[in-house]
Amino acid sequence: MEMALPRPSRRSVHSHITGLGLDERGKAKRIGGGLVGQEKAREAAGIIVQLVKEGKLGGRGVLIVGPPGTGKTAIAFAVSKELGADTPFVAIDAGEVTGLQKKTEVLLQALRKAMGIRIREEREVVEGVIADIKYLRRQSPFSPYPTLGGAKVTLETKDESSSFSVGPEIAEQLMGLNVRKGDLVTIDVETGAVRRVGRVKEKAERWYDIGVERQVEMPSGPVRKKKEFVRVLTFHDVDLSVAARRVAFSGLLALLETEREISDEDRKQANEIVKKMIDERRAELVPGVLFIDDAHMLDLESFSFLTKAMESDFAPLLILATNRGMAKIRGTDIESPHGMPRDLLDRLLIVTTQPYSLEEIREIIAIRADEEEVPLSEDALELLTKLGAERSVRYAVQLLEPARTIALRRKSQKVEARDVKEAAELFADLKRSVELVEKYKDLMIYG
Ligand SMILES: Nc1ncnc2c1ncn2[C@@H]1O[C@H](COP(=O)(O)OP(=O)(O)OP(=O)(O)O)[C@@H](O)[C@H]1O
Ligand SMILES: [Mg+2]
Repeated sequence: MEMALPRPSRRSVHSHITGLGLDERGKAKRIGGGLVGQEKAREAAGIIVQLVKEGKLGGRGVLIVGPPGTGKTAIAFAVSKELGADTPFVAIDAGEVTGLQKKTEVLLQALRKAMGIRIREEREVVEGVIADIKYLRRQSPFSPYPTLGGAKVTLETKDESSSFSVGPEIAEQLMGLNVRKGDLVTIDVETGAVRRVGRVKEKAERWYDIGVERQVEMPSGPVRKKKEFVRVLTFHDVDLSVAARRVAFSGLLALLETEREISDEDRKQANEIVKKMIDERRAELVPGVLFIDDAHMLDLESFSFLTKAMESDFAPLLILATNRGMAKIRGTDIESPHGMPRDLLDRLLIVTTQPYSLEEIREIIAIRADEEEVPLSEDALELLTKLGAERSVRYAVQLLEPARTIALRRKSQKVEARDVKEAAELFADLKRSVELVEKYKDLMIYG
């Protein structure tokens, strides 16, 4: 019995990738960031990362083209790592969008999640290390038990020590966060929001030196001060808050709506709010990336929608990936390069990935085996390399886990060639599974 392998989730499949592996001059190291070879594509991706970081690529598009298993998805994943947490990166599978009734809504939402604004806010805070804290109880007329009435807190910096009383709302937060002497806390003076930043080194108990807590420096300067906070919000976040406000205003009936949707009107309002904030220099635009994998699966309607969306003021960088050459555009009879309409293709920079050499296949498998902690013998690695070349790299990588299970059953910690061979006999690659169905076509239809 042969079974086709399930496709593991993208995240785990690319977990060995930490970045594009480029040097300071943007040249690809042969092996770097968990990536092997594909130097041209990685260097191109490096330029794209730089342009996105400089805010220069919004409304543009990139198409990554190459044979199956040559690292297109892996490189897009590396781009997201390089961009860092502050730049929005949204990844969707075209196959998951097509067939949905609200596909343009899904695409629009993805686009808006991929666009951000950076907001700088100056806030009045008290910030310091807790030198002393005492909670005050008070007897409530409604309850037999005393309730939290407030607290007396002493906060310290390198230069100052300051004591003050706080009301029950702040006291409750302090208690909920379980703050202790030696914790660095920030309290927003206007909203009363409390944040526990971490523990200060010199105050931390010596027995807990290797705790999981974040260690921070003792701050200097005054306890009460203005502090700048920087946050990145996505357009989708703004949409949601506008929609929520509308629902709040329209009262109870709106709460009965089964689905609370973001309307066009909400998005228009959100755009206006953002525009105003940018004009007033209270926010700056952070165009991110929308990555659409297997983009040939999109249909004409989706392509048209994306092409139009790219022209709007607030558009992220679009990165598409495909392994198709000439193909029909979905939803039509039109043959076109990569199954995409010409007017979209004309706007895309194209990056290509090449088939791997044997040496590169060996290295990719070795990296994956290392990541999944599958110890391979020399022979096992050789056989997997051969399978990777003959069938596909992905197939070879997917055999690692089954081969390990087979090895463990015979009580071997190390995976040998025989385990790989057995795994390859049990699990088919796509070509073989398709051939099988073709061969027994008549049987399969009725059976
Ligand atoms: N250059 C590389 N370095 C390290 N690992 C790689 C490289 N290229 C691919 N891989 C790994 O090989 C597997 C297949 O690669 P990937 O999924 O990125 O291929 P793809 O080009 O997107 O294929 P498809 O056209 O089928 O979508 C993944 O586990 C990936 O992480
Ligand atoms: Mg892919």
